Amino acid sequence: MDAIMSLCKRRGFVFQTSEIYGGINGFWDYGPLGAQLKKNLRDAWWQDVVMNPAWGRKGPNGRPVEMVPVDTCIIQHPKTWEASGHIAGFNDPMCDDKETKQRFRADHLIGAFCRLDDGLGAAISESGVPAFTIVSSTVGEAVSLLTGDKKLRKMMGVGDELEQVGTGEEWKFTYKGKAVIAIFAQVPIDLLKQQTAKVPSPFTGKPGSLTEPRQFNLMFHTFVGANATEDDKAYLRPETAQGIFAQAKNVWDTTRIRVPFGIAQTGKSFRNEVTPRNFTFRSREFEQMEIEFLCHESDALAWYAYWRDWRMEWWKSIGLAGENLILREHAQDELAHYSKATSDIEYRFPFTAPGFGELEGIAYRGNYDLSQHEKFSGVKMSYNDTERGELLPNGQRRGERYIPHVIEPSAGLDRGVLAILCEGYMKDESRPSPEIMKIHPRIAPIKAAIYPLVAKDGMPEVAEKLYEDVRAKFAKIGFIEFDEKQSIGKRYARMDEAGCPYCFTIDGDTLKDQTVTVRERDSGAQQRIGLDKVVTFLDEKLL
Ligand code: GAP
Repeated sequence: MDAIMSLCKRRGFVFQTSEIYGGINGFWDYGPLGAQLKKNLRDAWWQDVVMNPAWGRKGPNGRPVEMVPVDTCIIQHPKTWEASGHIAGFNDPMCDDKETKQRFRADHLIGAFCRLDDGLGAAISESGVPAFTIVSSTVGEAVSLLTGDKKLRKMMGVGDELEQVGTGEEWKFTYKGKAVIAIFAQVPIDLLKQQTAKVPSPFTGKPGSLTEPRQFNLMFHTFVGANATEDDKAYLRPETAQGIFAQAKNVWDTTRIRVPFGIAQTGKSFRNEVTPRNFTFRSREFEQMEIEFLCHESDALAWYAYWRDWRMEWWKSIGLAGENLILREHAQDELAHYSKATSDIEYRFPFTAPGFGELEGIAYRGNYDLSQHEKFSGVKMSYNDTERGELLPNGQRRGERYIPHVIEPSAGLDRGVLAILCEGYMKDESRPSPEIMKIHPRIAPIKAAIYPLVAKDGMPEVAEKLYEDVRAKFAKIGFIEFDEKQSIGKRYARMDEAGCPYCFTIDGDTLKDQTVTVRERDSGAQQRIGLDKVVTFLDEKLL
């Protein structure tokens, strides 16, 4: 992850926000390459969700999927968040360490539950309290933090060698000089509440300095207008979804679209995360790409399966095709009270490995949200479905009024960008340019580079002409690069790091036989094609 972050900084994918002032935790800016990469990912989603939903595949009703976009405000009427349940319940449990003044999410505390490795299984610490703790959202991350950080091991009293035993759930190491076997697991919130004084701090390894967990609302607030009283309080949206729900009735009243159909939106969301971490993965300002798909209750499970499966295929189509991507169906006890089914599309990030982190959630939310908005606003959210109900003698249907049920595929744009960067990053020491970003051509920020081999003998002129032709056709989907300085190897290396899939070089032979060298990023292989074939070549590869 350190190598990926360092390349992101060095090549202008991602910068720390306000870096010149020391940064601000949980906020990230995108540099030139990152901004274009993010735009390409958002555009791909927009194209495949809004313009040509699900690539034109028919839905379970046998018809093409209908989708319309909206663009709603970051600041909504505060009642929106009462109705959605965010004011009452969008909380994370939080603990403070009184000694170091650091704060962490109480449900992101992994404990090492140790017993002596003496065959008798005696517990190292009494009352089931962990011997030491680490702030982390997954066990995999906690173990890799511990194995990769000598200072942390020293502070916790852990020896340098950690050995995985048995099925992989247990670890063998020395703890304060004794051989132990440990299971790493989330420290239960109840244990943190009942044994607060005994749980060791993840920042010092010592017990006695943690506070009891307490609830912390994640919504940022502000004041609308000049008075700044409690009555003027408003919130920055923690999800784009509620803007869609609040406008759903306007959408079906003002367009000819009929249920089943979806409303899609992309935009910024804000959450005052207790412990923003893992680069852009858990940020305080981030962008979402959300669909609220409205349907009749009797069709909802079929639409749920449709969206779940297609969304998984979509992520594969933009380059996350390997074993690092999984679909995880939630168990019944994980579901919100209004949800009948939910699944997550998860990616194995370097910091979650061997575990996974969520990229997108696909939830069947019943008609909870629209019913809540009806209750809080007094505006009827029922929809008159003229294609349902009893068949009348005149051949028409009586119609049925209902509050539509909703399937919500909700994706994180920044997490998508991060997954693409993690998946793409490759190190191949045998190549002159060892660091390569294998980004899918559709998403790559630089689509092609045009180089004269040397800046003389008429080569720059031919290259410039080709650059203009290629730009005229492809600049609408990404950058086209022209560079005549440095050795050709260095220029290729720069493009490999930037994720540019194709470089075209004009050399002495071009002037004789009108051919150019195409170099492919992934294999480093080179071939010659006609100068007049470059645009067609890119047409096939990029569009
Ligand atoms: N409307 C449903 C909703 O917001 P969510 O699971 O809380 O569901 C959806 O968020 C997606 O937004 C997640 O799958 C994730 O990709 C992204 N996301 C959520 N919190 C985030 C954060 N703090 N930083 C970056 N992305 C986040």
